[in-house]
Amino acid sequence: MTGTAAPDTGIPDVPKAELHVHLEGTARPALIRRLAARNGVALPAGLFADEETFAWTDFLDFLTTYDLAASVLRTAEDYRDLVHAYLSECAAEGAIYVEMIASPDHARAVGLPEAEHRAGLFAGIDDARTDHGIEGRILVTAIRNLGVEAAERTAREAAALAHPYVVGFNLAGDEAGFPPAPFARAFQVAHDAGLGCTVHAGEHAGPASIREALALPGVRRLSHGVRAVEDPALVARLAEERIVLEVCPTSNVVLGVYEDYAAHPFTRLRDAGVLVTLASDDPPFFGASIGGEYGVARTHFGLQDDALLDITRTALRAGFLDETTRRDLLERLGSAGSAL
Ligand code: HPA
Ligand code: ZN
Repeated sequence: MTGTAAPDTGIPDVPKAELHVHLEGTARPALIRRLAARNGVALPAGLFADEETFAWTDFLDFLTTYDLAASVLRTAEDYRDLVHAYLSECAAEGAIYVEMIASPDHARAVGLPEAEHRAGLFAGIDDARTDHGIEGRILVTAIRNLGVEAAERTAREAAALAHPYVVGFNLAGDEAGFPPAPFARAFQVAHDAGLGCTVHAGEHAGPASIREALALPGVRRLSHGVRAVEDPALVARLAEERIVLEVCPTSNVVLGVYEDYAAHPFTRLRDAGVLVTLASDDPPFFGASIGGEYGVARTHFGLQDDALLDITRTALRAGFLDETTRRDLLERLGSAGSAL
């Protein structure tokens, strides 16, 4: 022993799991630059504020910048590198499992066939497991502002191209402008195909969006869902029905859903018995990371290591992964291995 203390990174030393991160939103500016150069594409104007920072103002402008960044991803190799880079970062922060929300519409927009898009995603998952022992899975997402028909097409394609790494279906994009109910058929297709279903709700719209989301076929988790706190009966229902929230505190604060961590409802929801997990949403855009969110939960919400481990356990039980992998990962926490 040298007696040298480990550096304090602010990241709690517990195994972590993440259920909510937009894959195209994990690319740091340096990676976007490298892929653009490799593909011989010009960097879109207005993408960066400076070397290290994407340029955006509010949520809808963020979605536009997000699309610009994603537009430099052109090949299977790009998606492989993206997944590998992100999972490597997560593993370095102690994560053992990550569900990545991937958008076939963004691949289609640059002419990348879905089979190639997927081949890249799957290679990244395999290579990260080999290099770091981390598990990753894919949630296919529809983009609500592209409309109901596009969402149904995305769900049908996901159902037709069944693969053990593609485990779920989500609905992202402009939540306030495009409420959940019209997307019921897309969710029915995904649910019938055995995909786990989750939907962005209760972030940019209030409790009504959550009730609508819960009426969609197969929805057992909510991407955010934090604005349930505005409706005590809904909070009680989430607890009673064991609906799991994918909570992204830093994203919520940076996007102005809450003024600061002290105003964030994480503690109120958890104390009311709602099952909560932690996630980063769009890491470089929001200055977030899965390790950082566990740090936020310790520093701002007062969770000690045993409570943080409980969060990881909840995430693994609510994950849409196969039971064998779930059991193996839960055993790494010293826990028995059942789904919620
Ligand atoms: N929210 C909703 N849609 C998105 C996001 C997000 O954070 N990132 C990419 N699409
Ligand atoms: Zn999100």
